[in-house]
Amino acid sequence: MGIRERMAFSTTALCILLITVQGISGEIKVFMLQVEEKEVGQPAQIECQASISEPTTEVHVQWFFLNGNKRERIYFMDSKHSVADNGTEYTGRISMDKNYTLTIHSVTLRDQGTFICQVGAGAVGKNENRTELRVYDAPELPEIKGEETGIAVTEESSIPKIAHCISRNGYPPPNITWYKDQTPLQDQEGVTSVQATLTKESSGLFSVESHLFHRVTKKDKDSKFYCEINYQMPGINHMMESSKIGIILHYPMEQLKFLRVFPDGPIKEGDTVKFECRGDGNPPPEYSFYKNNQGIDVNPAFDQGLLILENVTQMSTGTYECRGLDLETVTELNKEVNITVNYLTNITLTPDGPLELAVGEDKTLSCNAHASALTAFQWEKSDMEVFTGGNSLHLTNVNYSSTGTYTCEVTVPTVPGLVKSKSILITVSGKPEVTAPQNKLWVYIGEEVNLTCVAFGHPEAEITWNVAGNLTVRHRGDHTVTSQLTVKVVPELLRLGITCNASNMMGSGQQSFQLYQVLPTTHSTAKTDDIVRKKQKNPESSGVIIVAVIVCILLLAVLGATLYFLYKKGKISCGRSGKQDITRPEDQKDIIMELKTDKVQEEAGLLQGANGDKKPPRDQGEQYIDLRN
Ligand SMILES: *[C@@H]1O[C@H](CO)[C@@H](O)[C@H](O)[C@H]1NC(C)=O
Ligand SMILES: *[C@@H]1O[C@H](CO)[C@@H](O)[C@H](O)[C@H]1NC(C)=O
Ligand SMILES: *[C@@H]1O[C@H](CO)[C@@H](O)[C@H](O)[C@H]1NC(C)=O
Ligand SMILES: *[C@@H]1O[C@H](CO)[C@@H](O)[C@H](O)[C@H]1NC(C)=O
Ligand SMILES: *[C@@H]1O[C@H](CO)[C@@H](O)[C@H](O)[C@H]1NC(C)=O
Ligand SMILES: *[C@@H]1O[C@H](CO)[C@@H](O)[C@H](O)[C@H]1NC(C)=O
Ligand SMILES: *[C@@H]1O[C@H](CO)[C@@H](O)[C@H](O)[C@H]1NC(C)=O
Ligand SMILES: *[C@@H]1O[C@H](CO)[C@@H](O)[C@H](O)[C@H]1NC(C)=O
Ligand SMILES: *[C@@H]1O[C@H](CO)[C@@H](O)[C@H](O)[C@H]1NC(C)=O
Ligand SMILES: *[C@@H]1O[C@H](CO)[C@@H](O)[C@H](O)[C@H]1NC(C)=O
Ligand SMILES: *[C@@H]1O[C@H](CO)[C@@H](O)[C@H](O)[C@H]1NC(C)=O
Repeated sequence: MGIRERMAFSTTALCILLITVQGISGEIKVFMLQVEEKEVGQPAQIECQASISEPTTEVHVQWFFLNGNKRERIYFMDSKHSVADNGTEYTGRISMDKNYTLTIHSVTLRDQGTFICQVGAGAVGKNENRTELRVYDAPELPEIKGEETGIAVTEESSIPKIAHCISRNGYPPPNITWYKDQTPLQDQEGVTSVQATLTKESSGLFSVESHLFHRVTKKDKDSKFYCEINYQMPGINHMMESSKIGIILHYPMEQLKFLRVFPDGPIKEGDTVKFECRGDGNPPPEYSFYKNNQGIDVNPAFDQGLLILENVTQMSTGTYECRGLDLETVTELNKEVNITVNYLTNITLTPDGPLELAVGEDKTLSCNAHASALTAFQWEKSDMEVFTGGNSLHLTNVNYSSTGTYTCEVTVPTVPGLVKSKSILITVSGKPEVTAPQNKLWVYIGEEVNLTCVAFGHPEAEITWNVAGNLTVRHRGDHTVTSQLTVKVVPELLRLGITCNASNMMGSGQQSFQLYQVLPTTHSTAKTDDIVRKKQKNPESSGVIIVAVIVCILLLAVLGATLYFLYKKGKISCGRSGKQDITRPEDQKDIIMELKTDKVQEEAGLLQGANGDKKPPRDQGEQYIDLRN
């Protein structure tokens, strides 16, 4: 009862009281609410208001509890006492205030019933009124349980049981309503039947159990069922839902699907092919697989209805069949799938194996393979060079750059990933070509000289020298071999010359070296550092000097003969003129040596600039003639 209602009640009572006091005399009126609602465990207040027409002090109040037709006093008040009766249900559980309001400290189910308040006032008489106390207790959350064995949709004779639901310990007993998805299920002949049982527990609370029977079809295989309970609480209706459950439906297979699920596109050798077979019955049918009517053993580890072919070959091409047997209806359905496994045979290369070609040679290579579909060819060299022109590769006028690994790759454009390749190593050979950076050298006897020979060719050339010396092979690579010989110059070498010989299986090539000796001087005063500087002097300039020396000797001889002739005639004294004659040629020789030194210095500068630049011999001749005069 709300505060407002209570106030309204109190006001009404007061008005009536006043009217009574002023108007009619000798009367008592008692006012009480008809119904009071309380939850178990809570305190309850039952009000009792009395109006007495004449003022009196002789008021007594008695409370009774009406249980069935048994009326029992539970409380009384007179001028001396205000106390609960001994030996009743309410002894110790109730009290009453000055306004005659009876309080039950904690309501129990047994308090459900009628409370009577009787007010007496001596001579005025007595009267009573009553309030019905309704007690409520909320039930527990409902529990639902589905049928564990499958429910057959074919069963015609009776409606199958779907689930049961129980709601315990409520007061008053709650109602149970069944739902399929969002729709409440009503009792309906031949379709839905709900059987509920009500149990009164020893506590006085009620438990309600409800069994749902419902005819299901295959459409219901994904339906969710649940129960809802409705129960009353003071002043309001409450609702609770159980959890939602699915059911296990048994229905016959009507269709069978058999599909290749992997790979999506064309199949090639080595692929893993996956098929899936699905019958639409529950429980699922027994599956078996056949290829060209021959049973296939399926790995039991795979899921039912899966057929997996690993590493297929062209032999796997064919018609595959799945049969599904519904064990409950003993019906069998079957479906077929055809697959084609694409293949590409290993490549045949013509010629096969490594190939040796001579420089300048022509060659055609061809590449062949068989496939289940149209093929495409491509030739590629190890240095990424790509050749066009189908399965044949024409090599013309090969050179050393043509050496390499040639790969033919065959693809089947309609089947991605179907590819084979084969390689051939081609080596181009030729006889070595020999060159020398410098093959004409000016040398001194006893000097050590370095001679260098470079050979280009394939296979790599082997270089030999026709003299013994200290040999170093300095560099190899790219068909080139460089060899350096350090040799000590002996007179025999000047005579025989030196040759380097580079050879491989394709032939040999030679390079000869010419050594020119720097003329040894007869004069003892020649300085050694002059000689070192003359190392690479031109043969022509030496020749001029030789000629100059010879001319000088001849002039001396003529001079000697003239002096002798004059001596014989007695015109010249013997001692003095002899001394002079001897010293003169020596002076001349010194002059010649100086000329050589100048010449070498001049040439050394020229050699630094341009190797092999020669000075015309004419200049030397002129210089010589000038000095002589
Ligand atoms: C009991 O109380 C109600 C109001 O609370 C009043 O309407 C009714 O007349 C009373 N009954 C008797 C018998 O006094
Ligand atoms: C109830 O019993 C107690 C003792 O058992 C006694 O003292 C008391 O007077 C009794 N009250 C009534 C109303 O009988
Ligand atoms: C008795 O009633 C009066 C007026 O209705 C109220 O003011 C007072 O609080 C009440 N007394 C008790 C003890 O409930
Ligand atoms: C329970 O169902 C009955 C009958 O269908 C109905 O009268 C009653 O009000 C319902 N109770 C609740 C709490 O819904
Ligand atoms: C696939 O099959 C080929 C030929 O039958 C065989 O050589 C190869 O080892 C197989 N590969 C795998 C992964 O089974
Ligand atoms: C499979 O191939 C066979 C024979 O080529 C043919 O008769 C059959 O119709 C094909 N089946 C399907 C599903 O394509
Ligand atoms: C094809 O080539 C592979 C690898 O080169 C080889 O293992 C296989 O034996 C070849 N198959 C045939 C049929 O020659
Ligand atoms: C070798 O031959 C190719 C093509 O025939 C040519 O492009 C290249 O210049 C040649 N190389 C030499 C070093 O001759
Ligand atoms: C010859 O070559 C060696 C090393 O290759 C070098 O040490 C030496 O100085 C060279 N001799 C001459 C005369 O160039
Ligand atoms: C070769 O070298 C060795 C030691 O380095 C040396 O003794 C020998 O004289 C050298 N021979 C020639 C011909 O240079
Ligand atoms: C160069 O050497 C090769 C192989 O040793 C030999 O056959 C050839 O006769 C030699 N040539 C000369 C000119 O010495």
